Amino acid sequence: MDQNELKKQVGYKAAEFVEDGMTVGLGTGSTVKFLVDALGERVQNEGLKIVGVPTSDRTREQALSLGITVKGIDEVDHIDLTIDGADEIDNNFQGIKGGGAAHLWEKIVAINSTKNMWIVDASKMVDTLGKFPLPLEVIPYGSGQLIKKLDKMGLKPELRKRDGEIVLTDSKNYVIDLHLDAIEDPHDLEKELIQMVGVVEQGFFLDLVNTVIVGREEGPQVID
Ligand code: 5RP
Repeated sequence: MDQNELKKQVGYKAAEFVEDGMTVGLGTGSTVKFLVDALGERVQNEGLKIVGVPTSDRTREQALSLGITVKGIDEVDHIDLTIDGADEIDNNFQGIKGGGAAHLWEKIVAINSTKNMWIVDASKMVDTLGKFPLPLEVIPYGSGQLIKKLDKMGLKPELRKRDGEIVLTDSKNYVIDLHLDAIEDPHDLEKELIQMVGVVEQGFFLDLVNTVIVGREEGPQVID
């Protein structure tokens, strides 16, 4: 099975955990795209009734196109379950997210959810976080100065660009990726980064997830 098939496997498996009447946080990314496809099929074929709370404009558009009812984060009074992808997950279920530049909205939805589930192919499971660059969402004003500070701290910052253009988040912020390789103490670094003026949110998702579904050759592995 290639990586895409494993992503599809976990996306469809996760959709089985969604029950009629639920308010569901919908993550962002290529794995979540399969989840939203699967939920759209359930809405159309089984008459499943859910409210989706999307974590990006991309996910919102996909959900609406499939007939899923969508509400904004401030239009719901609770979220039963949020299902999202991740870029890295360690053995203690701590994660890095933000590869799709959506980690600010993803975290707001996650911390307002009763339960959080991550869906990943097996390549995302790691012993130590950090090989995947840690994203920071930062406001554009002063981001050049912030990059200099991060550089002096030895955190190897890089402003995220695509096709030579600076990537903008859905909140019209920039993303700075920290190329750290191995992060010994995510909690310590999280505290340090979030205090920096201009950093809106960082990509550690620590002590947040309840269930992880890992896509494997032999079938999806559900870990609670
Ligand atoms: C977006 C994210 C995604 O969940 C993460 O990047 C995983 O994406 P994919 O499923 O495409 O591998 O955090 O900001």
